[in-house]
Amino acid sequence: MSNQPAAIRRADYNAPSHFVDTVDLRFELNDDGTIVSSRLQCRASDGEPGADLLLDGNELKLLEISVDGQPLPAARYTVDDQSLRIRDLPAQFELEIRTEIHPQRNTALEGLYKSGGMYCTQCEAEGFRRITYFPDRPDVMAVYTTTIVADPNSYPVLLSNGNRVDAGHLDDGRHWVRWHDPFPKPSYLFALVAGDLACHQDRFVTASGRDVLLQIFVEHHNTGKTDHAMAALKSAMAWDERTHGLEYDLDRYMIVAVDDFNMGAMENKGLNVFNTVCVLADPETSTDRDFETVEAVIAHEYFHNWTGNRVTCRDWFQLSLKEGLTVFREHQFCADQGSAEVKRIGEVRTLRAAQFPEDAGPLAHPVRPDSYIDISNFYTATVYNKGSEVIRMYHSLLGAEGYYRGMQLYFKRHDGQAVTCDDFLAAMADANDRDLTQFSRWYSQAGTPVLEVQDDYDATAQRYTLTVRQSCPATPGQAEKLPFHLPLVMGLLDQGGRSMALHLADSAASDAPLERLLEITSHEQQFVFEQVSERPVPSLLRGFSAPVRLRYDYTDQQLALLAAHDADGFTRWEAGQQLATKLMLAALGRAEPPAHVANEHLLSALDGVLRRASEDPAFAAEALTLPSEAYIADQLAEVDVEAIHRVREACIRDIIAELGSDLETIYRENRGTDQAMDGASMGRRALACTALGLLARGDDVEDLLRDHYRNAANMTDRLCALGLLAHTDNDAAAAALADFHDRWRNDDLVVNKWFQVQAMSLREDTPELIAQLMEHPDFSLTNPNRVRSLIGAFAQGNPLRFHRPDGAGYRLLADTVLQLNAINPQVAARMLLPLTRWQRQIPSAREGMRRELERIGNAHKLSKDVFEVVSKGLQ
Ligand code: PHE
Ligand code: ZN
Repeated sequence: MSNQPAAIRRADYNAPSHFVDTVDLRFELNDDGTIVSSRLQCRASDGEPGADLLLDGNELKLLEISVDGQPLPAARYTVDDQSLRIRDLPAQFELEIRTEIHPQRNTALEGLYKSGGMYCTQCEAEGFRRITYFPDRPDVMAVYTTTIVADPNSYPVLLSNGNRVDAGHLDDGRHWVRWHDPFPKPSYLFALVAGDLACHQDRFVTASGRDVLLQIFVEHHNTGKTDHAMAALKSAMAWDERTHGLEYDLDRYMIVAVDDFNMGAMENKGLNVFNTVCVLADPETSTDRDFETVEAVIAHEYFHNWTGNRVTCRDWFQLSLKEGLTVFREHQFCADQGSAEVKRIGEVRTLRAAQFPEDAGPLAHPVRPDSYIDISNFYTATVYNKGSEVIRMYHSLLGAEGYYRGMQLYFKRHDGQAVTCDDFLAAMADANDRDLTQFSRWYSQAGTPVLEVQDDYDATAQRYTLTVRQSCPATPGQAEKLPFHLPLVMGLLDQGGRSMALHLADSAASDAPLERLLEITSHEQQFVFEQVSERPVPSLLRGFSAPVRLRYDYTDQQLALLAAHDADGFTRWEAGQQLATKLMLAALGRAEPPAHVANEHLLSALDGVLRRASEDPAFAAEALTLPSEAYIADQLAEVDVEAIHRVREACIRDIIAELGSDLETIYRENRGTDQAMDGASMGRRALACTALGLLARGDDVEDLLRDHYRNAANMTDRLCALGLLAHTDNDAAAAALADFHDRWRNDDLVVNKWFQVQAMSLREDTPELIAQLMEHPDFSLTNPNRVRSLIGAFAQGNPLRFHRPDGAGYRLLADTVLQLNAINPQVAARMLLPLTRWQRQIPSAREGMRRELERIGNAHKLSKDVFEVVSKGLQ
């Protein structure tokens, strides 16, 4: 690989040489190119004349440049393909620059681009430099005024950040609108939208009486699908006032839905831009999951207004300052909307599916990374989801009140500033008079810590001792780790499953709660409990109180007891999962595949779940779902995906043999034929679909699945049946797939689902089917949602067929990544990730994966994004 792009290092941070106080932008959106005029009020940060000003710029054509009204002589500046350097500047000056850009040709979807008929922008992290020359770094914060000029017929709606301050018409028939955002912001929060859009409007009055106009803009064919997003926005606004005392600060809050978007959504000040997937919802075409996603993402972007926008990041190494914190706030909000336990289970599933493997692979990095080649590769599960777990641990260690005290101090100190993760930690520590120095290792050390717990019961002394040892595996660049500071929330159960009082050895006799938070800080610690009248079963890591792998040598009986009786819902679920995992791992460890995988303990635990299912159907659905093949793989030193699949299928067949008729009863009792979107209906649907999913792995289920598909009254049921049918190559499957496409060929988001179920099919020829589907007229490599639905779902969600022994899955992915590299480098790099997880695969798979990675690495003109992932992935 030649021409290696350089790494940027956190240690090299330098404060900006210049500040920009105001930015005046004028966009002329023409079919043959956009002219951007910018006027910046700049001043040297040391107050002295003479410092060079370095502006970032990418794919720009410089038309004109002047300083204080005078055209700048060529001798005073240098331009290359990344930057513009200006010399001999006074201490304070006005800089005017005119550039030309081509949004029509922009398939990278960074900067200003066209999606369908509309113009939109994406500036995080480094997209603004594709719009104009600018110090494109988050610690340069300016007040923006933006004027947009366009043809009124094609672009009647012209939007930017802040408040609409003026509008008019030009003599040539074009119209213009001017926007002003009074809050200083970094360039990554700039946004512009122009298009022919429908608007769903509402109002929200804040606690202090500000009347806020709420607007959701969509293309006309998407009208009628924004009620759920609007309701979610209003509840998020009310929630942030109620729980944090945080109010919205502008007179309007706008959301625009676009089809072509690299990520989920973007929190631009006052003008969020959303992937349609994260804003549109309607029972006919969206699943219950989709509804939850919309609510979560709407809330997430709204919460960024304080955690991200009012207080922003000093540099991109601090990304988790805003993302980890905002994901945690989103999680708190979602927990308050419905069953907190079920939400927590979902969060842990996501963490384990996406973050643990990342932390165990070649791209492992700390929550606050130390270096990057391309920052877009660091919008990761580690920065987001592990980052959120880190915030959750502050909440646990400091208590809810202490946490909110810390948040208050954080806002009081840093409103309007660009700060670091250290600043956040300092606010939490100072507000609570706590030393969090050791806690800061969560920001600097990568890898998932392992907690090994052993116990000892002394019946004569009625004393129970827990020994907790922590360790953390080596990760790239970090061979040795220091111990973490973490909360271990626990309880003890007696043999009847009742919670026991916890008399810690050196605490007061009256202090005997049923649950304790143990602070883990050393390599090894002991906790001694007195007055323990019988050998207890430890209930550990309740609520998943820390992002660790817990090891305790439970017996099957103990896990069954916890699953049936523990006081904590997460631990009840987890115990069932661990029991199933244990049995499947044991089966995998045997030379001869055993006839049965499930045993009486697992079957009776599941039987208990079925009998109690009506108490909490959503929870029952989680408890009936076996650990995924990916989760099982993550427990193994050497991964044979086919063996894992066989064992998991065998386990399901054991369950059907024993509990099949109960599963059928549960299925019939809970399946519905309506579109009710309340939590209880959604819970019953989840339960019915989970039961059906298990039954579908048995024999003679074609009629059941066909009926479920035919009678479905909502997308959750329909998609569930379609996904199960699509695993087989028969007429029923073909008919359902054809029917589904026929009905919804004009709804892009549903067509995505149609691609996705086929990508996830267990059919052996899935790689070939995907290659065919890539030729389908509805498929396109320029639309990231399509790419994710087909290629992403296959490579990330279908381990059995992605790892097909002949390597067809790997080749397909590599071919696609090479094409995408030239179209959309960010998406290309993201799609590539599954190929970098070769280390623990069986040797034949490892070779096939490395071969494809090397093929990509040897290709010409690799983008920085793809280069970084390939080169790290091969190490
Ligand atoms: N900042 C966005 C969010 O998490 C994510 C994003 C990053 C979107 C980069 C686009 C580009 O809310
Ligand atoms: Zn975010």
